[in-house]
Amino acid sequence: MIVVKGPQKVSGSVKVSGAKNSVLPIMCAALLTKEKVELENVPNLNDVKVLINIIKQLGRDVSMNGDRLILHEMEKLNYSNHVPSEASSIRYSLLLLGSLLSTSKSITLPMPGGCNFSDRPIDVHLYGLKQLGANIIEGENHLVANTIGLKGTEITLRFPSVGATENLLIASVLAEGETILRNVAREPEIDDLVKFLNELGAKITYLGPNTMKIEGVPALEKKGVTYKIIPDRIEAATFAVLGALASRDSLTIENFVVEHNLVFLNILQRIGVNFEIISPNSLKVYHSPNLVATSICTEVYPGLPTDIQPILAVLLTQAEGESIIEDSIYPTRFQYAKYLEKMGAHISLFEGGICIQGKTSLEGAEVFSSDLRGGISVLLAGLIAKGETVIKNSYQIFRGYSELSLKLEKIGAEVEEKVEEVGVLAY
Ligand code: EPU
Repeated sequence: MIVVKGPQKVSGSVKVSGAKNSVLPIMCAALLTKEKVELENVPNLNDVKVLINIIKQLGRDVSMNGDRLILHEMEKLNYSNHVPSEASSIRYSLLLLGSLLSTSKSITLPMPGGCNFSDRPIDVHLYGLKQLGANIIEGENHLVANTIGLKGTEITLRFPSVGATENLLIASVLAEGETILRNVAREPEIDDLVKFLNELGAKITYLGPNTMKIEGVPALEKKGVTYKIIPDRIEAATFAVLGALASRDSLTIENFVVEHNLVFLNILQRIGVNFEIISPNSLKVYHSPNLVATSICTEVYPGLPTDIQPILAVLLTQAEGESIIEDSIYPTRFQYAKYLEKMGAHISLFEGGICIQGKTSLEGAEVFSSDLRGGISVLLAGLIAKGETVIKNSYQIFRGYSELSLKLEKIGAEVEEKVEEVGVLAY
Protein backbone atom coordinates (compact mmCIF):
# COMPACT_ATOMS: atom_id res chain seq x y z
CA MET A 1 0.00 0.00 0.00
CA ILE A 2 0.98 3.65 -0.34
CA VAL A 3 0.68 6.14 2.50
CA VAL A 4 0.58 9.88 1.70
CA LYS A 5 0.44 12.68 4.22
CA GLY A 6 -1.14 15.65 2.51
CA PRO A 7 -1.22 18.28 1.38
CA GLN A 8 2.10 18.12 -0.40
CA LYS A 9 3.76 20.64 -2.69
CA VAL A 10 5.86 19.93 -5.76
CA SER A 11 8.30 22.01 -7.81
CA GLY A 12 11.13 21.70 -10.31
CA SER A 13 10.98 19.30 -13.21
CA VAL A 14 10.09 15.69 -13.83
CA LYS A 15 10.98 13.44 -16.76
CA VAL A 16 8.33 11.15 -18.24
CA SER A 17 9.38 7.53 -18.92
CA GLY A 18 8.75 5.36 -21.97
CA ALA A 19 5.16 4.42 -22.77
CA LYS A 20 3.76 1.25 -21.19
CA ASN A 21 1.31 0.79 -24.03
CA SER A 22 4.13 1.06 -26.59
CA VAL A 23 6.78 -1.09 -25.00
CA LEU A 24 4.53 -4.10 -24.34
CA PRO A 25 3.33 -4.55 -27.96
CA ILE A 26 6.84 -3.81 -29.23
CA MET A 27 8.28 -6.55 -26.98
CA CYS A 28 5.71 -9.01 -28.38
CA ALA A 29 6.50 -7.87 -31.95
CA ALA A 30 10.24 -8.31 -31.37
CA LEU A 31 9.63 -12.06 -31.13
CA LEU A 32 9.13 -12.05 -34.92
CA THR A 33 12.87 -11.71 -35.53
CA LYS A 34 15.63 -14.03 -34.39
CA GLU A 35 18.11 -11.14 -34.57
CA LYS A 36 19.21 -9.16 -31.53
CA VAL A 37 16.90 -6.25 -30.71
CA GLU A 38 17.74 -3.47 -28.29
CA LEU A 39 14.99 -1.28 -26.85
CA GLU A 40 15.78 2.08 -25.23
CA ASN A 41 13.69 4.22 -22.88
CA VAL A 42 12.01 1.12 -21.44
CA PRO A 43 9.97 1.99 -18.32
CA ASN A 44 10.60 0.12 -15.08
CA LEU A 45 7.12 -1.37 -14.68
CA ASN A 46 5.63 -4.52 -13.21
CA ASP A 47 3.89 -5.34 -16.51
CA VAL A 48 7.24 -5.14 -18.34
CA LYS A 49 8.84 -7.47 -15.77
CA VAL A 50 6.00 -9.96 -16.18
CA LEU A 51 6.36 -9.91 -19.97
CA ILE A 52 10.15 -10.38 -19.71
CA ASN A 53 9.55 -13.47 -17.57
CA ILE A 54 7.02 -14.84 -20.04
CA ILE A 55 9.37 -14.27 -22.99
CA LYS A 56 12.20 -16.03 -21.13
CA GLN A 57 9.93 -19.00 -20.45
CA LEU A 58 9.01 -19.09 -24.13
CA GLY A 59 12.70 -19.68 -24.83
CA ARG A 60 14.16 -16.26 -25.67
CA ASP A 61 17.08 -14.81 -23.74
CA VAL A 62 16.22 -11.29 -22.50
CA SER A 63 18.21 -8.94 -20.31
CA MET A 64 17.49 -5.50 -18.86
CA ASN A 65 20.07 -2.91 -17.95
CA GLY A 66 18.64 0.36 -16.62
CA ASP A 67 16.19 1.51 -19.26
CA ARG A 68 17.67 -0.72 -22.01
CA LEU A 69 16.13 -4.05 -22.79
CA ILE A 70 17.86 -6.59 -25.01
CA LEU A 71 16.25 -9.54 -26.71
CA HIS A 72 19.28 -11.61 -27.59
CA GLU A 73 19.82 -13.28 -30.93
CA MET A 74 18.59 -16.86 -31.27
CA GLU A 75 19.67 -19.48 -33.78
CA LYS A 76 16.24 -19.99 -35.22
CA LEU A 77 12.76 -18.88 -34.26
CA ASN A 78 11.71 -21.67 -31.98
CA TYR A 79 9.43 -20.80 -29.08
CA SER A 80 7.56 -23.01 -26.64
CA ASN A 81 3.93 -23.31 -27.70
CA HIS A 82 2.63 -23.10 -24.14
CA VAL A 83 2.44 -19.52 -22.91
CA PRO A 84 2.98 -19.69 -19.11
CA SER A 85 0.18 -18.98 -16.63
CA GLU A 86 1.72 -15.60 -15.65
CA ALA A 87 0.30 -14.29 -18.91
CA SER A 88 -3.12 -14.18 -17.29
CA SER A 89 -2.00 -11.24 -15.11
CA ILE A 90 -1.44 -8.79 -17.97
CA ARG A 91 -3.66 -7.70 -20.83
CA TYR A 92 -1.02 -7.45 -23.49
CA SER A 93 -0.05 -11.12 -23.34
CA LEU A 94 -2.90 -11.43 -25.86
CA LEU A 95 -0.55 -9.98 -28.48
CA LEU A 96 1.59 -13.10 -28.16
CA LEU A 97 -1.11 -14.73 -30.28
CA GLY A 98 -0.08 -12.55 -33.24
CA SER A 99 3.63 -13.20 -32.86
CA LEU A 100 3.52 -16.90 -31.92
CA LEU A 101 1.01 -17.84 -34.63
CA SER A 102 3.56 -16.41 -37.08
CA THR A 103 6.39 -18.54 -35.74
CA SER A 104 4.68 -21.72 -34.43
CA LYS A 105 1.93 -23.95 -35.75
CA SER A 106 -0.03 -24.16 -32.50
CA ILE A 107 -0.16 -22.34 -29.17
CA THR A 108 -2.00 -22.39 -25.87
CA LEU A 109 -2.45 -19.04 -24.17
CA PRO A 110 -4.05 -18.28 -20.78
CA MET A 111 -6.90 -15.77 -20.97
CA PRO A 112 -5.35 -12.29 -20.56
CA GLY A 113 -5.87 -10.17 -17.43
CA GLY A 114 -4.85 -6.55 -16.79
CA CYS A 115 -7.17 -3.82 -15.57
CA ASN A 116 -10.63 -5.23 -15.02
CA PHE A 117 -12.57 -1.97 -14.79
CA SER A 118 -15.00 -3.22 -17.41
CA ASP A 119 -15.96 -6.13 -19.55
CA ARG A 120 -13.09 -6.28 -22.09
CA PRO A 121 -14.10 -8.51 -25.00
CA ILE A 122 -11.49 -9.88 -27.43
CA ASP A 123 -13.78 -10.67 -30.38
CA VAL A 124 -12.07 -8.19 -32.74
CA HIS A 125 -8.69 -9.84 -32.11
CA LEU A 126 -10.09 -13.33 -32.68
CA TYR A 127 -12.14 -12.38 -35.74
CA GLY A 128 -9.11 -10.83 -37.46
CA LEU A 129 -6.73 -13.67 -36.62
CA LYS A 130 -9.27 -16.18 -37.92
CA GLN A 131 -9.49 -14.19 -41.18
CA LEU A 132 -5.72 -14.53 -41.47
CA GLY A 133 -6.03 -18.30 -41.21
CA ALA A 134 -5.91 -19.20 -37.52
CA ASN A 135 -8.23 -21.69 -35.86
CA ILE A 136 -8.93 -20.52 -32.32
CA ILE A 137 -10.88 -22.32 -29.63
CA GLU A 138 -11.90 -20.34 -26.55
CA GLY A 139 -11.85 -22.43 -23.38
CA GLU A 140 -12.86 -21.14 -19.96
CA ASN A 141 -9.31 -20.18 -18.98
CA HIS A 142 -7.32 -20.70 -22.15
CA LEU A 143 -7.22 -19.97 -25.84
CA VAL A 144 -5.97 -22.76 -28.07
CA ALA A 145 -4.87 -21.60 -31.52
CA ASN A 146 -3.33 -23.28 -34.51
CA THR A 147 -2.65 -22.55 -38.15
CA ILE A 148 -1.17 -24.20 -41.21
CA GLY A 149 0.28 -20.79 -42.06
CA LEU A 150 -1.14 -17.26 -41.94
CA LYS A 151 -2.24 -15.74 -45.25
CA GLY A 152 -2.80 -12.07 -46.04
CA THR A 153 -6.36 -10.86 -46.65
CA GLU A 154 -8.62 -7.80 -46.22
CA ILE A 155 -9.99 -7.24 -42.72
CA THR A 156 -12.31 -4.51 -41.52
CA LEU A 157 -12.26 -4.06 -37.74
CA ARG A 158 -15.75 -3.76 -36.21
CA PHE A 159 -14.25 -1.16 -33.82
CA PRO A 160 -10.82 0.56 -34.00
CA SER A 161 -9.47 -1.43 -31.04
CA VAL A 162 -5.91 -0.56 -30.05
CA GLY A 163 -4.95 -4.08 -29.01
CA ALA A 164 -6.63 -5.78 -31.98
CA THR A 165 -4.95 -3.39 -34.45
CA GLU A 166 -1.59 -4.28 -32.86
CA ASN A 167 -2.29 -8.01 -32.82
CA LEU A 168 -3.31 -8.06 -36.49
CA LEU A 169 -0.39 -5.89 -37.54
CA ILE A 170 2.04 -8.26 -35.81
CA ALA A 171 0.32 -11.33 -37.29
CA SER A 172 0.37 -9.90 -40.84
CA VAL A 173 4.07 -9.08 -41.04
CA LEU A 174 5.22 -12.64 -41.83
CA ALA A 175 1.92 -13.79 -43.36
CA GLU A 176 2.00 -14.88 -46.98
CA GLY A 177 0.84 -12.14 -49.38
CA GLU A 178 -0.78 -8.78 -48.74
CA THR A 179 -3.02 -7.76 -45.84
CA ILE A 180 -5.26 -4.70 -45.79
CA LEU A 181 -6.51 -3.60 -42.37
CA ARG A 182 -9.43 -1.16 -42.37
CA ASN A 183 -10.82 0.92 -39.48
CA VAL A 184 -7.60 0.58 -37.50
CA ALA A 185 -6.78 2.54 -34.32
CA ARG A 186 -4.31 5.44 -34.76
CA GLU A 187 -2.93 6.00 -31.25
CA PRO A 188 0.71 7.22 -31.12
CA GLU A 189 1.58 3.78 -29.71
CA ILE A 190 0.30 2.15 -32.93
CA ASP A 191 2.52 4.44 -35.01
CA ASP A 192 5.42 3.51 -32.71
CA LEU A 193 4.78 -0.19 -33.35
CA VAL A 194 4.58 0.36 -37.13
CA LYS A 195 7.87 2.30 -37.06
CA PHE A 196 9.55 -0.43 -35.03
CA LEU A 197 8.32 -3.24 -37.29
CA ASN A 198 9.41 -1.34 -40.42
CA GLU A 199 12.86 -0.86 -38.88
CA LEU A 200 13.05 -4.63 -38.43
CA GLY A 201 12.28 -5.04 -42.14
CA ALA A 202 8.47 -5.24 -42.28
CA LYS A 203 6.60 -3.55 -45.14
CA ILE A 204 3.76 -1.57 -43.59
CA THR A 205 2.28 1.55 -45.20
CA TYR A 206 -0.78 3.70 -44.54
CA LEU A 207 -3.27 3.82 -47.42
CA GLY A 208 -5.37 6.41 -45.61
CA PRO A 209 -5.87 7.68 -42.06
CA ASN A 210 -7.39 4.40 -40.85
CA THR A 211 -6.26 1.87 -43.44
CA MET A 212 -2.97 -0.02 -43.50
CA LYS A 213 -1.32 -2.24 -46.07
CA ILE A 214 1.09 -4.94 -44.93
CA GLU A 215 3.10 -6.78 -47.57
CA GLY A 216 4.14 -10.05 -45.99
CA VAL A 217 7.87 -10.83 -45.91
CA PRO A 218 9.37 -14.31 -45.31
CA ALA A 219 11.62 -13.14 -42.45
CA LEU A 220 12.74 -10.01 -40.59
CA GLU A 221 16.46 -10.08 -41.21
CA LYS A 222 17.71 -6.62 -40.30
CA LYS A 223 20.54 -7.06 -37.79
CA GLY A 224 21.29 -5.03 -34.67
CA VAL A 225 18.17 -2.85 -34.52
CA THR A 226 18.09 -0.37 -31.62
CA TYR A 227 14.78 1.35 -31.06
CA LYS A 228 13.70 4.09 -28.63
CA ILE A 229 10.21 3.86 -27.11
CA ILE A 230 8.09 7.05 -27.20
CA PRO A 231 7.27 8.83 -23.91
CA ASP A 232 4.15 7.84 -22.00
CA ARG A 233 1.43 10.39 -22.78
CA ILE A 234 -0.75 9.28 -19.83
CA GLU A 235 2.09 9.68 -17.34
CA ALA A 236 2.76 13.09 -18.91
CA ALA A 237 -0.88 14.10 -18.39
CA THR A 238 -0.76 12.84 -14.79
CA PHE A 239 2.16 15.13 -13.93
CA ALA A 240 0.48 18.05 -15.70
CA VAL A 241 -2.56 17.66 -13.43
CA LEU A 242 -0.29 17.34 -10.40
CA GLY A 243 1.46 20.57 -11.42
CA ALA A 244 -1.83 22.44 -11.70
CA LEU A 245 -3.08 21.23 -8.32
CA ALA A 246 0.00 20.95 -6.16
CA SER A 247 2.93 22.93 -7.51
CA ARG A 248 4.42 25.61 -5.31
CA ASP A 249 4.72 27.80 -8.36
CA SER A 250 5.18 25.52 -11.38
CA LEU A 251 6.20 22.04 -12.50
CA THR A 252 8.06 21.39 -15.74
CA ILE A 253 7.30 18.11 -17.47
CA GLU A 254 10.07 16.88 -19.74
CA ASN A 255 9.22 14.34 -22.43
CA PHE A 256 5.69 15.75 -22.60
CA VAL A 257 5.03 15.25 -26.32
CA VAL A 258 2.65 18.10 -27.11
CA GLU A 259 1.49 16.53 -30.38
CA HIS A 260 0.29 13.41 -28.53
CA ASN A 261 -1.74 15.37 -25.98
CA LEU A 262 -3.43 18.16 -27.95
CA VAL A 263 -7.00 17.40 -26.83
CA PHE A 264 -5.89 17.07 -23.22
CA LEU A 265 -4.14 20.47 -23.38
CA ASN A 266 -7.23 22.00 -24.90
CA ILE A 267 -9.28 20.68 -21.96
CA LEU A 268 -6.74 22.03 -19.43
CA GLN A 269 -7.11 25.43 -21.06
CA ARG A 270 -10.91 25.25 -20.80
CA ILE A 271 -10.69 24.36 -17.10
CA GLY A 272 -8.39 27.32 -16.47
CA VAL A 273 -5.05 25.59 -15.97
CA ASN A 274 -2.14 27.91 -16.73
CA PHE A 275 0.62 26.30 -18.74
CA GLU A 276 3.35 27.16 -21.18
CA ILE A 277 4.56 25.00 -24.05
CA ILE A 278 8.34 25.24 -23.66
CA SER A 279 9.15 23.04 -26.66
CA PRO A 280 7.46 20.26 -28.67
CA ASN A 281 8.60 17.92 -25.88
CA SER A 282 8.22 19.89 -22.69
CA LEU A 283 5.47 21.65 -20.80
CA LYS A 284 5.51 23.98 -17.80
CA VAL A 285 2.35 23.90 -15.71
CA TYR A 286 1.66 26.65 -13.16
CA HIS A 287 -0.23 26.28 -9.91
CA SER A 288 -3.80 27.06 -10.99
CA PRO A 289 -6.19 27.84 -8.13
CA ASN A 290 -9.06 29.30 -10.20
CA LEU A 291 -10.47 26.32 -12.06
CA VAL A 292 -13.87 26.15 -13.73
CA ALA A 293 -16.10 23.13 -14.33
CA THR A 294 -16.41 21.57 -17.75
CA SER A 295 -17.91 18.58 -19.56
CA ILE A 296 -15.73 15.98 -21.23
CA CYS A 297 -16.20 12.71 -23.05
CA THR A 298 -13.53 10.16 -23.95
CA GLU A 299 -13.22 9.11 -27.59
CA VAL A 300 -11.07 7.03 -29.86
CA TYR A 301 -7.71 8.82 -30.57
CA PRO A 302 -7.23 11.70 -31.41
CA GLY A 303 -10.11 12.24 -28.92
CA LEU A 304 -9.60 12.38 -25.16
CA PRO A 305 -8.07 9.07 -23.96
CA THR A 306 -10.14 6.98 -21.56
CA ASP A 307 -6.99 6.50 -19.47
CA ILE A 308 -6.91 10.24 -18.68
CA GLN A 309 -10.49 10.66 -17.42
CA PRO A 310 -9.84 9.34 -13.87
CA ILE A 311 -6.94 11.82 -13.64
CA LEU A 312 -9.02 14.76 -14.87
CA ALA A 313 -11.72 13.79 -12.35
CA VAL A 314 -9.41 14.85 -9.49
CA LEU A 315 -8.75 18.18 -11.19
CA LEU A 316 -12.49 18.72 -11.62
CA THR A 317 -13.18 18.15 -7.91
CA GLN A 318 -11.22 21.42 -7.51
CA ALA A 319 -13.12 23.31 -10.24
CA GLU A 320 -15.99 25.67 -9.43
CA GLY A 321 -19.37 24.33 -10.67
CA GLU A 322 -20.81 21.15 -12.16
CA SER A 323 -18.60 18.96 -14.37
CA ILE A 324 -19.65 15.93 -16.38
CA ILE A 325 -17.32 13.11 -17.39
CA GLU A 326 -18.54 10.50 -19.86
CA ASP A 327 -16.50 7.55 -21.12
CA SER A 328 -17.57 6.30 -24.53
CA ILE A 329 -14.79 3.68 -24.61
CA TYR A 330 -15.41 2.08 -21.20
CA PRO A 331 -18.76 3.42 -19.90
CA THR A 332 -18.32 1.76 -16.47
CA ARG A 333 -14.75 2.91 -15.76
CA PHE A 334 -15.70 4.93 -12.67
CA GLN A 335 -14.90 2.60 -9.77
CA TYR A 336 -12.51 5.24 -8.43
CA ALA A 337 -15.36 7.75 -7.94
CA LYS A 338 -16.56 6.23 -4.65
CA TYR A 339 -13.07 6.66 -3.18
CA LEU A 340 -12.87 10.31 -4.26
CA GLU A 341 -16.28 10.72 -2.62
CA LYS A 342 -14.97 9.10 0.55
CA MET A 343 -12.28 11.81 0.51
CA GLY A 344 -14.89 14.56 0.31
CA ALA A 345 -15.66 15.01 -3.39
CA HIS A 346 -19.30 15.43 -4.42
CA ILE A 347 -19.84 12.92 -7.20
CA SER A 348 -22.95 11.22 -8.53
CA LEU A 349 -22.98 8.39 -11.03
CA PHE A 350 -25.25 8.05 -14.03
CA GLU A 351 -25.20 5.52 -16.85
CA GLY A 352 -21.96 6.02 -18.76
CA GLY A 353 -20.60 8.84 -16.63
CA ILE A 354 -20.27 10.89 -13.48
CA CYS A 355 -21.25 14.35 -12.36
CA ILE A 356 -18.85 16.27 -10.09
CA GLN A 357 -19.94 19.28 -8.01
CA GLY A 358 -16.93 21.42 -7.19
CA LYS A 359 -15.11 22.73 -5.55
CA THR A 360 -14.73 20.66 -2.40
CA SER A 361 -11.78 20.28 -0.10
CA LEU A 362 -10.48 16.73 0.19
CA GLU A 363 -9.54 14.86 3.36
CA GLY A 364 -7.26 11.85 3.76
CA ALA A 365 -8.97 8.45 3.97
CA GLU A 366 -8.37 4.74 3.49
CA VAL A 367 -9.01 4.02 -0.19
CA PHE A 368 -8.44 1.30 -2.74
CA SER A 369 -6.64 1.25 -6.06
CA SER A 370 -9.42 -0.31 -8.15
CA ASP A 371 -7.22 -0.38 -11.28
CA LEU A 372 -4.15 1.39 -12.61
CA ARG A 373 -5.69 4.76 -13.53
CA GLY A 374 -8.23 4.62 -10.70
CA GLY A 375 -5.24 4.12 -8.40
CA ILE A 376 -3.33 7.15 -9.66
CA SER A 377 -6.51 9.19 -9.38
CA VAL A 378 -6.80 8.51 -5.62
CA LEU A 379 -3.05 9.03 -5.18
CA LEU A 380 -3.31 12.50 -6.78
CA ALA A 381 -6.26 13.20 -4.49
CA GLY A 382 -4.18 12.04 -1.50
CA LEU A 383 -1.39 14.45 -2.44
CA ILE A 384 -3.74 17.46 -2.24
CA ALA A 385 -5.96 16.21 0.62
CA LYS A 386 -5.56 17.21 4.27
CA GLY A 387 -4.30 14.37 6.44
CA GLU A 388 -3.27 10.80 5.79
CA THR A 389 -4.43 8.76 2.80
CA VAL A 390 -3.77 5.05 2.69
CA ILE A 391 -4.07 3.50 -0.78
CA LYS A 392 -4.53 -0.24 -0.69
CA ASN A 393 -3.88 -2.55 -3.63
CA SER A 394 -1.30 -0.02 -4.84
CA TYR A 395 0.57 -2.60 -6.95
CA GLN A 396 -1.92 -1.60 -9.66
CA ILE A 397 -0.32 1.85 -9.86
CA PHE A 398 3.19 0.43 -10.31
CA ARG A 399 1.92 -1.60 -13.28
CA GLY A 400 1.90 1.68 -15.20
CA TYR A 401 4.03 4.35 -13.45
CA SER A 402 7.79 3.89 -13.66
CA GLU A 403 9.86 4.95 -10.61
CA LEU A 404 6.87 6.87 -9.27
CA SER A 405 7.96 7.29 -5.64
CA LEU A 406 11.42 8.40 -6.74
CA LYS A 407 10.06 10.91 -9.25
CA LEU A 408 7.66 12.34 -6.65
CA GLU A 409 10.46 12.58 -4.11
CA LYS A 410 12.64 14.49 -6.59
CA ILE A 411 9.95 17.13 -7.04
CA GLY A 412 9.38 17.39 -3.30
CA ALA A 413 6.44 15.06 -2.54
CA GLU A 414 6.81 12.21 -0.15
CA VAL A 415 4.89 8.97 -0.46
CA GLU A 416 5.63 5.89 1.57
CA GLU A 417 5.36 2.39 0.16
CA LYS A 418 4.43 -0.20 2.78
CA VAL A 419 3.78 -3.89 2.70
CA GLU A 420 0.27 -4.54 3.88
CA GLU A 421 -0.06 -6.80 6.94
CA VAL A 422 -2.37 -9.61 5.86
CA GLY A 423 -2.12 -11.73 9.02
CA VAL A 424 -1.86 -15.51 8.98
CA LEU A 425 -3.79 -17.14 6.20
CA ALA A 426 -5.80 -20.21 7.16
CA TYR A 427 -5.94 -22.97 4.58
N1 EPU B 1 -13.26 -4.00 -27.75
C1 EPU B 1 -14.14 -4.97 -28.19
N2 EPU B 1 -13.63 -6.12 -28.72
C2 EPU B 1 -12.28 -6.35 -28.81
C3 EPU B 1 -11.40 -5.36 -28.36
C4 EPU B 1 -11.91 -4.20 -27.82
O1 EPU B 1 -15.35 -4.80 -28.11
O2 EPU B 1 -11.88 -7.41 -29.32
C5 EPU B 1 -13.79 -2.76 -27.18
C6 EPU B 1 -13.46 -2.62 -25.69
O3 EPU B 1 -14.41 -3.27 -24.89
C7 EPU B 1 -13.49 -1.12 -25.49
C8 EPU B 1 -12.93 -0.60 -26.81
O4 EPU B 1 -13.10 -1.66 -27.75
O5 EPU B 1 -14.79 -0.68 -25.35
C9 EPU B 1 -11.49 -0.18 -26.76
O6 EPU B 1 -10.64 -1.26 -26.41
P1 EPU B 1 -9.18 -1.42 -27.02
O7 EPU B 1 -9.07 -2.79 -27.60
O8 EPU B 1 -8.88 -0.25 -27.86
O9 EPU B 1 -8.30 -1.37 -25.69
P2 EPU B 1 -7.12 -2.33 -25.29
O10 EPU B 1 -6.22 -2.55 -26.44
O11 EPU B 1 -7.62 -3.50 -24.55
C10 EPU B 1 -5.56 -0.33 -24.68
C11 EPU B 1 -4.73 0.12 -23.51
C12 EPU B 1 -5.64 0.55 -22.38
C13 EPU B 1 -6.54 1.67 -22.89
C14 EPU B 1 -7.29 1.24 -24.16
C15 EPU B 1 -8.10 2.33 -24.82
C16 EPU B 1 -3.73 -1.87 -22.34
C17 EPU B 1 -2.50 -2.66 -22.22
N3 EPU B 1 -3.74 -0.86 -23.20
O12 EPU B 1 -6.37 -1.42 -24.24
O13 EPU B 1 -4.79 1.03 -21.36
O14 EPU B 1 -7.46 2.04 -21.89
O15 EPU B 1 -6.33 0.75 -25.13
O16 EPU B 1 -7.29 3.36 -25.22
O17 EPU B 1 -4.65 -2.16 -21.63
C18 EPU B 1 -4.18 1.65 -19.18
O18 EPU B 1 -3.07 1.95 -19.65
O19 EPU B 1 -4.55 1.94 -18.03
C19 EPU B 1 -5.11 0.90 -20.02
C20 EPU B 1 -6.12 0.22 -19.54
